[in-house]
Amino acid sequence: MEWNAKNISVPSIKWVSTLFLLSLFCLLNPHQARAAKFPSVSGLRGKESVVSNRCNLFMGSWVVDPSYPLYNSSTCPFIDPEFDCQKYGRPDKQYLKYAWKPDSCALPRFDGADFLKRLRGKKIMFVGDSLSLNMWESLSCMIHTSVRNTKISFSMNKSLSTATFQDYGLTIQLYRTPYLVDIISEKVGLVLTLDSIVAGNAWKGMDMLIFNSWHWWIHTGKSQGWDYIRDGPNLVKDMDRLEAYNKGLTTWAKWIDRNVDTTKTKVFFQGISPTHYQGKDWNQPKRSCHGEVQPLPGSTYPAGLPPATTILNNVLKKMNTPIYLLDITLLSQLRKDAHPSAYSGDHSGNDCSHWCLPGLPDTWNQLLYAALTT
Ligand SMILES: *[C@@H]1O[C@H](CO)[C@@H](O)[C@H](O)[C@H]1NC(C)=O
Ligand SMILES: *[C@@H]1O[C@H](CO)[C@@H](O)[C@H](O)[C@H]1NC(C)=O
Repeated sequence: MEWNAKNISVPSIKWVSTLFLLSLFCLLNPHQARAAKFPSVSGLRGKESVVSNRCNLFMGSWVVDPSYPLYNSSTCPFIDPEFDCQKYGRPDKQYLKYAWKPDSCALPRFDGADFLKRLRGKKIMFVGDSLSLNMWESLSCMIHTSVRNTKISFSMNKSLSTATFQDYGLTIQLYRTPYLVDIISEKVGLVLTLDSIVAGNAWKGMDMLIFNSWHWWIHTGKSQGWDYIRDGPNLVKDMDRLEAYNKGLTTWAKWIDRNVDTTKTKVFFQGISPTHYQGKDWNQPKRSCHGEVQPLPGSTYPAGLPPATTILNNVLKKMNTPIYLLDITLLSQLRKDAHPSAYSGDHSGNDCSHWCLPGLPDTWNQLLYAALTT
């Protein structure tokens, strides 16, 4: 892993200047006019513009769509340097031009004005690690681009960032907690406590929750976020990471079943986001994501799904609460071209873990929008 513990810190957006600049962006953003021209349902020119229940939105392939990207990073105030690939020198632009095409239906085009209307007065919270940050910034940019003259405010502290679309009373928050379960400071050091989820108190009262956790479970060395694991009564120096993930997720699942009223709150899980450090996974053993400029064609990924997806699916299956899995793993595996690699304003080295913005997380949010609207 090329990314380290500083990921756990707050986003490095320059919030103060952002606040100042926002009103300007709202007035001057030339991109908004462009976005407004598109109808809310894209692509496929009339064939199957309605998503049917039978359609699996997550099976499909990437196609070139000249109307992409959905926004320009230079006009979105939410993007962290670590995701702003164009600003930090990425020379190619073709990766911005791919749209996800489900096999048997069209993915509705994101309509930010409609999103704001539907979710007026609601509270949305992303909960998880920097992949949640990636998706939260993407959603904020997508909405920002499609509405003119709307007031946006921010507040933030170490664990919580909030963007409020004031005219609509909509808040979109990011709660940073890479393992979902708690890390507790004890005499021995930081203890990843697999059956403790006190952090959950901050997730109550939301209308929509979008969780994600995986990458930090496999970190070792200085990017490992803890010194010990508490597994039931046992304090251990380490354990099988998939087993730990299973136990942590199970604690999360029980918390959801006990605390979430699904008549009020919709719960999503942002599926496992893949990395592209190992070219052997796509039959290019000498490569990583660096220098990749195209997605894999078709709908199969040579390495198959990562084992964490099986654990996640099994935990979700056993829950009483219906969770909508944004099953983004395969479609993201195909996007070996969509990482910052060397063109990150925050990570030195080769980041094949996060995703450029605009880029792949915009598709994750389109899928979220599809789930809400169809
Ligand atoms: C984004 O906008 C800037 C400023 O107008 C422009 O120079 C740049 O080419 C645009 N980027 C893309 C990817 O279209
Ligand atoms: C962050 O802000 C939230 C909401 O304002 C508050 O409940 C929480 O205690 C704050 N956390 C820290 C670490 O300051």
